[in-house]
Amino acid sequence: MSRLSFSASNAHLQMALIRALLWLLSLGGLAAMHQPYDDSTLTLTSFGTPDPFLNSFHGQYYLTFTAGDRIEIWSSNSLVDIETSATKHLIWKPPHGAVDSADIWAPELHALRGRWYIYYTAANPRKGNKSHRLYVLGGPLATEEPCSGQWEFLGPIHPMPDQWAIDGTVFEIEDQLYLAYSGWPLNSSELHQSDHDDFKNKRATQYNLGNASDNKTMVADTSGLVQHLYIVRLDTPTTADSKPVPVGLPYQSWEITHDGDGAHAINEGPQWLSSPDGRWHGLVYSCGGSWTHEYKMATLKYRGGEPLDPSSWRKSEAPLLQMHKQSGTGPFGPGHGSFLHIGGGHVIAVYHATDGPDDGWGNRRARVQRVTFTEKGPYMGKSFGVEGPVKGGILARFAAKLSRKKKTSVAKNEDLRAFLEAQRLENEANADGM
Ligand SMILES: *[C@@H]1O[C@H](CO)[C@@H](O)[C@H](O)[C@H]1NC(C)=O
Ligand SMILES: *[C@@H]1O[C@H](CO)[C@@H](O)[C@H](O)[C@H]1NC(C)=O
Ligand SMILES: *[C@@H]1O[C@H](CO)[C@@H](O)[C@H](O)[C@H]1NC(C)=O
Ligand SMILES: *[C@@H]1O[C@H](CO)[C@@H](O)[C@H](O)[C@H]1NC(C)=O
Repeated sequence: MSRLSFSASNAHLQMALIRALLWLLSLGGLAAMHQPYDDSTLTLTSFGTPDPFLNSFHGQYYLTFTAGDRIEIWSSNSLVDIETSATKHLIWKPPHGAVDSADIWAPELHALRGRWYIYYTAANPRKGNKSHRLYVLGGPLATEEPCSGQWEFLGPIHPMPDQWAIDGTVFEIEDQLYLAYSGWPLNSSELHQSDHDDFKNKRATQYNLGNASDNKTMVADTSGLVQHLYIVRLDTPTTADSKPVPVGLPYQSWEITHDGDGAHAINEGPQWLSSPDGRWHGLVYSCGGSWTHEYKMATLKYRGGEPLDPSSWRKSEAPLLQMHKQSGTGPFGPGHGSFLHIGGGHVIAVYHATDGPDDGWGNRRARVQRVTFTEKGPYMGKSFGVEGPVKGGILARFAAKLSRKKKTSVAKNEDLRAFLEAQRLENEANADGM
């Protein structure tokens, strides 16, 4: 009797188990359809390589970054091992005392109109930080390997207002070239006409952050506390065809960093990004103080229409990527991203971030992460790192430090490494087959 009832209930149990298994399988199927975003972050460099910019050509990756006194490009067919495997090319070292010889920042390599160009920011050593302007180098033909030929100084982009300007990048909308950059606020008469109406409307109130003499006009601001994002239409890779148009003004609370100097309202580091299916286009930019763990990335969607009309751009309501929490495991202050389509419909971001929350401008190492797209636009997991002990004394902080160490070797990094390597092999196989 007991035996019979046991086997009966056993059969029941088996059915229940099979049902549960089927249910789990169907869940698995669902999960496969809505795969969770893999937020692995792989650190590419062992030392500070701020403002990393990545491009590729004929199966080679080209990585450049802020090196301060020169422009260096690393080339390698492997991204994951780029620091150790790359050939390191010294592309440009300005003569001592030249107008572009101090604080050389954020170089970028672009193939435009059949030639390689490098856009960068530099200051005049006699004038210091306030003299930062955008400069251009011209290199070999775009059909040739960019690090093989000669490079020449082409000077500043012109004509441009006499404005503190950094982080220049060039992109195309319907075969028209545009320059985007970050600059100290210009006054209304220095701006492209079409935006005046935009700043006469209510939005000017929130944009101007209390430093406008009235709410109808833009006023110049050389305090160094405010940086707007501008775009300019280009006639050629070195000549401007319009006055600047402000398309990104910091006004959301998460764009402002407060410190002893006041409220820093900074939008900078713009980069063009398109989804592989062509449904999303826009600029990803960085905001907050780059010297803090608050540095982060957000988006300005291009909505279509006239790019020189500020209303063609819409700022995201939340950041694209930021640190998890100051108390978390890091990395911290992710920003100044650049984006690359690596084949197979995949897009990656390379940006810098620090290991500790208080590293400042030191130790901004290049990291790589995948970018996916939802119906709302690019998606990178919103924040990264695991939340650590919230507050506490020495012990809690020690534990946080330990878990930061652990984070750099988590298995997930190996997933991203494997993905990037597989993509490289697939690209190589495709190239061989051609
Ligand atoms: C705007 O800036 C230009 C160039 O610096 C200057 O000549 C002009 O007087 C300024 N206009 C106003 C209204 O402040
Ligand atoms: C600008 O707008 C703000 C908010 O509406 C208002 O408080 C302020 O008084 C205005 N400033 C001027 C100079 O009109
Ligand atoms: C506006 O700018 C002036 C001069 O650049 C500066 O002294 C002042 O503190 C700023 N005001 C605000 C509210 O940021
Ligand atoms: C240069 O100026 C920018 C913008 O005003 C400021 O944020 C930054 O701290 C300055 N950099 C240095 C090295 O002084």
